[in-house]
Amino acid sequence: MSHASHLPQALPGHPHIARQGATLMIESLPAAELARRFGTPLYVYSRAAIEQAARAYSDAAGDRPIALRYAVKANSSLAILQLLARLGWGFDVVSGGELARVLAAGASADKVVFSGVGKTDAEIAAALRAGVQCINVESLSEVQRVNRVAGETGVSAPVSLRINPDVDPRTHPYISTGLRNNKFGIAQSQARQAYAQCAQLPHLRVLGIDVHIGSQITEIGPYLDALDRVLDLVHDIERDGVRLHHLDLGGGLGIRYADETPPTPAQWIEALSERLQARGQGHRQVLLEPGRSVVGNAGVLLCEVVTLKSSLEKHFAVVDAAMNDLMRPALYEAWQRIEPAQARDGAQALRYDIVGPVCESGDWLGRDRMLDVREGDVLAILSAGAYGMAMASNYNTRPRAAEVLVDGERAQLIRERESLQDLMRGERPLEN
Ligand code: LLP
Repeated sequence: MSHASHLPQALPGHPHIARQGATLMIESLPAAELARRFGTPLYVYSRAAIEQAARAYSDAAGDRPIALRYAVKANSSLAILQLLARLGWGFDVVSGGELARVLAAGASADKVVFSGVGKTDAEIAAALRAGVQCINVESLSEVQRVNRVAGETGVSAPVSLRINPDVDPRTHPYISTGLRNNKFGIAQSQARQAYAQCAQLPHLRVLGIDVHIGSQITEIGPYLDALDRVLDLVHDIERDGVRLHHLDLGGGLGIRYADETPPTPAQWIEALSERLQARGQGHRQVLLEPGRSVVGNAGVLLCEVVTLKSSLEKHFAVVDAAMNDLMRPALYEAWQRIEPAQARDGAQALRYDIVGPVCESGDWLGRDRMLDVREGDVLAILSAGAYGMAMASNYNTRPRAAEVLVDGERAQLIRERESLQDLMRGERPLEN
């Protein structure tokens, strides 16, 4: 490997994460230095990268009637929610917990939509009391439930019905949500009946229609198919006398993990707007719920190589991050790029599986990666800003990682590393 150039070379698809000679930089700070200063495993986010991704959406929306609702599940850390709230974004939440987080981050409730397939009475009541913009209702039974809870709470519930458009998003089966056999949404064939039912119920105020077809979508086609089906339904529903104010088209835009070339937010928004125009619906208020494409490539997970070991068949780099810190490889066999924080000359490069210390063979973070590493080196797992920390657990009684936000030459700790005390809090010894 030669490091002739000392100008920072941004990694493709990862603005603000660059190689400067042998050194991996997050904005103006070397990743290895952050690892030393804050310890590992460590999530590090580039503030500029998040802001750039968020601006790509708001610039593309321009003065069109498009409202941006960040999908909190992708990364729910308070400082990141604050950043987006300051940029004027609203939020898509899927639990009472996420609702509490966005309110704590200073979001205005009237820019919050509440999605999810199994909302409890308590969560619905909390959302109504907070004054959310809309509850995205996912079944005929939930229509009744929201009406009842709204009656008990003494408010009229703003609702949108989530329709399952039966469109194949052509992504991983675990993150497809808009196929007929998925648990999400109301079947298209039941949609008119569901809206008719809403119109009869005293405590509901119908605002719109909602779809979300899946995640890590890398083509425009499935979105346009879903939009067409939504517009067909809108036509029928309005002919039945129900007026719809907004279309919530969900999230799902993919990012570049390896060599994917997903549409940009601008291309996505442009294509949706064109189709709406073409069908005489350009005036409709549209909500979008992007998550991954806002934060995914703004974050890395730093870890330290604890042990190098070789079996007859394989070389393993055992690192101090594991499936509990970053679950995507174990759960979806996801591929995320792995880079040394400080590159060596390549003379001792071997093909490694990068694995964690958790007692499961599924605990791997990368497979068959050519790396020249020694024990004590720091590795960066890229594209870890979305569905990384947000999906972390305490399996094997491992405290969750710390999180740092880099802003130019400044690094701010935005979440302390969990302590063992944190982990045991609330547990009680046997009584007899
Ligand atoms: N809206 C709804 C209703 C959703 O269910 C989701 C994601 C989103 C918006 C945001 O989708 P995004 O823009 O982030 O693709 N853990 C998986 C992804 C699960 C996505 C679930 N729903 C992963 O790591 O790939």
